[in-house]
Amino acid sequence: MSLNTSSAPLRVLVIVASTRPGRLGPAIADWFVRATLPEAKRGGITVDVADLADIGLPLLDEPEHPSSGIYLHEHTREWSRRVAAADAFVVTTPEYNYGMPAALKNAFDFLYHEWAWKPVGFVSYGNTSAGTRSVQMTKQVVTTLKMMPIGATVALRIADSTRDGQVLESAGLDEAARGVLRELSRVARAMQPLGTSTDGGDTGVPGPVEGLRLTTARPDDLAELLVLQRCCWVQEAFANDTLDLAPLRETLDDLRASLSTWQLWCVRRHGRLVAAVRARARGGAWLIGRLMVAPDQAGEGIGSWLLSYVEGQAPDETTHCELFTGHRSTRNIALYERAGYALTATDGTPDGSVHLTKQRQLT
Ligand SMILES: Cc1cc2nc3c(=O)[nH]c(=O)nc-3n(C[C@H](O)[C@H](O)[C@H](O)COP(=O)(O)O)c2cc1C
Repeated sequence: MSLNTSSAPLRVLVIVASTRPGRLGPAIADWFVRATLPEAKRGGITVDVADLADIGLPLLDEPEHPSSGIYLHEHTREWSRRVAAADAFVVTTPEYNYGMPAALKNAFDFLYHEWAWKPVGFVSYGNTSAGTRSVQMTKQVVTTLKMMPIGATVALRIADSTRDGQVLESAGLDEAARGVLRELSRVARAMQPLGTSTDGGDTGVPGPVEGLRLTTARPDDLAELLVLQRCCWVQEAFANDTLDLAPLRETLDDLRASLSTWQLWCVRRHGRLVAAVRARARGGAWLIGRLMVAPDQAGEGIGSWLLSYVEGQAPDETTHCELFTGHRSTRNIALYERAGYALTATDGTPDGSVHLTKQRQLT
């Protein structure tokens, strides 16, 4: 049976789960990559190796729950990028004390959305049980992360299948490795649509027009968000006669960094990113920024709806909402005034923006 080549290239990440000096793990992963490479190439599959020893994650040190996508540390963001970029995983794991290595559990715990709706295959190794108890334990963890463990597996008894720290290669073993890749690719392609449809970040809030889905932003939304932002602020540049606008200068790294200081929300319409906003608390103020709606979707009430939603997310102690816009952005100013905001100064600030506030209604 050949690999299904009907859709886009598939990216498989092989995770080396052991980290101790002198470990067998890298040799097992190298063999798996070697054994599957020709078939992967034919099937349009790229295979990348993530060695947890090289990645060097500390014990989980993020203050927020990973499902928030708010990452304080660059090591988390880097791990997030690698995992988010993969469509499927192969975990090469030993068995430690009848279970999975702590480094592997830790690497899973660091992230959340990045793992979801992706299949995972296993290449285990160990003594009498060939690492299968480690795999059973790992399956319990990965299903919580909405991953799908596949049935095909390779389980190597170290005494039978390795010599001098290397896998004793055989046609049968190589075929078993290819079997894992084949099943992984079939399941990954079947699961791909799930990754772009409703999941745990969905607010479930109905929109003013059909087909809208409002979610908290995830790291893998950011590239698209940056494109939308630039597109929206080109209009602002024309309206205010300046290119010197922060949203036009922002890079993908800046956006990633903003995830640790702002809450971000995205709106998709039939899968396409059409609007976004961000907010954060400062004292009694709820600062709202980067409210954007794709130009071709303007005039349908999406901006007002999103603004109202984000106002509703303000913490209880909020006294007022604040936002800025260009002093010549008449369309934006009109939208904010309709929503109850008042200009705090009629002249623009030195950077050409105006400041608007809205007192919070006491209920
Ligand atoms: C802390 C520790 C615990 C182990 N526990 C088991 C075990 O429960 N079952 C098993 O089959 N082998 C066990 N072993 C032996 C490992 O299967 C063997 O050392 C293997 O090479 C470990 O993988 P690594 O070299 O990639 O670290 C254990 C090894 C270590 C270091």
